[in-house]
Amino acid sequence: MPYSRIVGTGSYLPARILSNAELAQQVDTSDEWIVSRTGIRQRHIAADDELTSDLALKASLAALASAGVAPAELDLIIVATTTPDVVFPGTACILQDKLGVHGCPAFDVQAVCAGFVYALTTADQYIRTGMAKTVLVVGAEVFSRILNWEDRATCVLFGDGAGAVVLKASEEPGVLVCKLKADGRYRHILTTPASIMHGDVSGKPFLHMDGPAVFKFAVKALAELATETLAAAGLPQSELDWLVPHQANLRIIESTAKHLGLSMDKVVVTLDRHGNTSAASIPLAFDEAAKAGRFKPGELLLLEGIGGGFAWGSVLLRW
Ligand code: ACO
Repeated sequence: MPYSRIVGTGSYLPARILSNAELAQQVDTSDEWIVSRTGIRQRHIAADDELTSDLALKASLAALASAGVAPAELDLIIVATTTPDVVFPGTACILQDKLGVHGCPAFDVQAVCAGFVYALTTADQYIRTGMAKTVLVVGAEVFSRILNWEDRATCVLFGDGAGAVVLKASEEPGVLVCKLKADGRYRHILTTPASIMHGDVSGKPFLHMDGPAVFKFAVKALAELATETLAAAGLPQSELDWLVPHQANLRIIESTAKHLGLSMDKVVVTLDRHGNTSAASIPLAFDEAAKAGRFKPGELLLLEGIGGGFAWGSVLLRW
């Protein structure tokens, strides 16, 4: 049975940068509060005419170019997003059309900040079972559109962006272990509680979060998951070379690194410049580190994401 391997990465960030200092002019906050509680210094915000599929397209073209793969070679497209262009069709179908290819399966995965690891796991399974050979996996979000910009507790945390990888079937590993989890009992601590009802939006389409509850849940769940993932691969913690975590909060990331005995120079951190871009955060961080040549061939990388649902997951792979 073949493995799946990442053969190309790409990302895109909207041009507009919103600094903490600018935010402090809009809501009662400060650069000092935001940096000390989260590690975030700035975030990118999409222009009004930029859709999730536009961000996804730019990241995808960069990933395809770095993989040396033409769009026509793709036999599956998966987009992880919680902020799709429209209710339907799926953003993956819109992306497929914008890439100028037609016919291959294309669908969205909705697992909020865990979306990218859910999508990557799905792609890996398609390749392992022989249903696909070349897959584009994208995380793309415009969270700025679902934020209440008067709520200082949430609007300072998020940003917009997209990241993508191309996965190919390979005799060499590749993805080693994937683990996905969800616990719907915790769905209320992080939610955008709106629905469409007879032509109207029912409820508030703004992100709502119990920050301390999310923090507590994330720290415990990510530590347990990291241990479980390495154990499933039969590898000791000391073998791990890199952690590429979801970029929500520096304190959560530091806690996972400490649990794994990894120094912070072995952890990819981009949230100071990107904020939390939900499903886009891991592939954005991955692309930045890969392009900078930080990962060496054969190194062992752990990707971990967690978010609304609650949903969380990990992917352990050899670079
Ligand atoms: N600026 C200044 N003060 C603020 C701000 C702000 N932006 N936001 C909240 N405060 C105030 C609160 O009003 C509160 O004031 P009070 O004591 O007078 O009532 C005080 O700061 C403390 O509020 P807490 O919510 O208890 O602050 P906490 O130390 O828990 O930090 C934070 C909040 C940063 C959100 C933290 O809980 C956290 O990081 N949680 C994880 C959330 C997260 O990462 N979410 C991302 C989505 S989920 C995911 O991706 C994993």
